[in-house]
Amino acid sequence: MFSPPLAFVVVTLALTCNSAWAASFVNNWDEKFKYECPTNQTLSYVYSTHSNHHEDRRWMFKCCHIESYKTTGCEWTPYLNSFDHVLNYAVPEDRVLIGWFSEHKNKAEDRRHRMLTCNLSK
Ligand SMILES: *[C@@H]1O[C@H](CO)[C@@H](O)[C@H](O)[C@H]1NC(C)=O
Repeated sequence: MFSPPLAFVVVTLALTCNSAWAASFVNNWDEKFKYECPTNQTLSYVYSTHSNHHEDRRWMFKCCHIESYKTTGCEWTPYLNSFDHVLNYAVPEDRVLIGWFSEHKNKAEDRRHRMLTCNLSK
């Protein structure tokens, strides 16, 4: 089955970022996951690896605290893609990405995703 490539938009914040920690995979093959950064932290690193054998991906994340900022008004998006359709999402300019939900369907051998974003305020 065809697995579409995964595209990420990377935004560089001109802010100091502290206390990232070592990451490990949050899901096993074909498993759903829901990952949320601790309060006041934002996602700073996303890694994903694909297996042709499993026709699936595993993910790992890191979070960090942006000095003197807090996260407010956090909301989950609806599903951002359908099974076997492209995921194409840009986090709104005034928000940061702090969480990710993903579930797998064996029939489609694909995933659909939701994301958690927040405002960043002083
Ligand atoms: C989040 O940041 C705000 C503002 O700095 C602070 O008042 C609050 O205690 C923090 N919450 C946590 C759980 O760190």
